[in-house]
Amino acid sequence: MRNMETKVRIVNGDGPDTDYQEAAEILKRGGLVAFPTETVYGLGGNALDEDAAKKIYAAKGRPSDNPLIVHIAGMEALDELTSNVTEHAKKLAERFWPGPLTMILPKSEKVPLGTTGGLQTVAIRMPNHPVALRLIRQSGLYLAAPSANTSGRPSPTLAEHVAEDLTGKIEMILDGGMVDVGIESTIVDLTEDIPVILRPGCISKAMLEEVVGTVTIDPAVNGPKKDTSFKPKAPGMKYKHYAPKADMTIISGEREKVVETIRLRAESAILKGRKVGILATDETVGLYTEGTVVSIGTRKEEGSIARGLYKILRDFDHLKVDEIYAESFEDDTMGAAIMNRLCKAAGYAVEHV
Ligand code: TXA
Ligand code: MG
Repeated sequence: MRNMETKVRIVNGDGPDTDYQEAAEILKRGGLVAFPTETVYGLGGNALDEDAAKKIYAAKGRPSDNPLIVHIAGMEALDELTSNVTEHAKKLAERFWPGPLTMILPKSEKVPLGTTGGLQTVAIRMPNHPVALRLIRQSGLYLAAPSANTSGRPSPTLAEHVAEDLTGKIEMILDGGMVDVGIESTIVDLTEDIPVILRPGCISKAMLEEVVGTVTIDPAVNGPKKDTSFKPKAPGMKYKHYAPKADMTIISGEREKVVETIRLRAESAILKGRKVGILATDETVGLYTEGTVVSIGTRKEEGSIARGLYKILRDFDHLKVDEIYAESFEDDTMGAAIMNRLCKAAGYAVEHV
């Protein structure tokens, strides 16, 4: 249902106070405000209010067993929200906050089960974005904030994406322009002795290991298991995610072969009357002659690729393409996170050539 007026306010970190005051009032009344973070836009509500959590799930169309990340603006929040701030948590917070790292810790009494999807643990992150930090401080609350997209669509990297999905369903959108990172935070589970990555992001395994020693990666990160009894630790990982409307296939292998294969696939799909989108890079964009060809950025700077990825998936939706072919990325620092999101968008359809 879209029956609410959604105000849009263009803001930056040091603009006038009025917009922040208005947004903070909405949050204090239990309403929802979308705001930019450095990773993607978040859909914020009071994290300690179960009714606000219910509104978040309803606006996103998200299953209520998929827990929310609690956003904070100061270190003291860790003591209030968790029952045990581990040594690892202290060290990682010190090194990476504010920043794109979410930590899973045992929750305190204060955090309602409605926010944690019924779990005894809570996900916490201090975002590195002036608008997000100022909004949290101004409201005096902790903000539960999933990505501000309709469940199953690519995460929003622009306020326009939020408006497309949530206009009429939330009270306000703070428009702080394009986000910086472009893919969601790294999630690390600190509830056991050895930290486990539940979702890769721009803070890599190696970066975490520099601070806390050995870190493992949850097997669910690499795709769904055939064994149906398998339960991923981050409930969000069991749902189809970031899906464009078209059928998407990732072609991996040696660069020349990848380009050749995508060219052939595109050609035959177009002959059948299908509209084809090709996700290329600056290095290869000139090599494709058919279909709607878009470069997501240069392989020399994978940060630029992460930043542009979700926008391009949405653009392909708007262009109503039927099939998308994407090049693959190396399993290095940022490449691992990019491949993880591409694989989810493609429903794990990866072909090696
Ligand atoms: O970068 C980000 O993290 C963005 C911005 C807005 O901060 N937020 C975000 O939230 O991506 P969301 O709700 O789209 O993804 C949160 C993920 C889900 O996969 C969820 O299952 C997992 O975090 N999660 C949350 N609480 C958890 C918990 N207690 N244990 C395990 N996984 C948890
Ligand atoms: Mg999300």
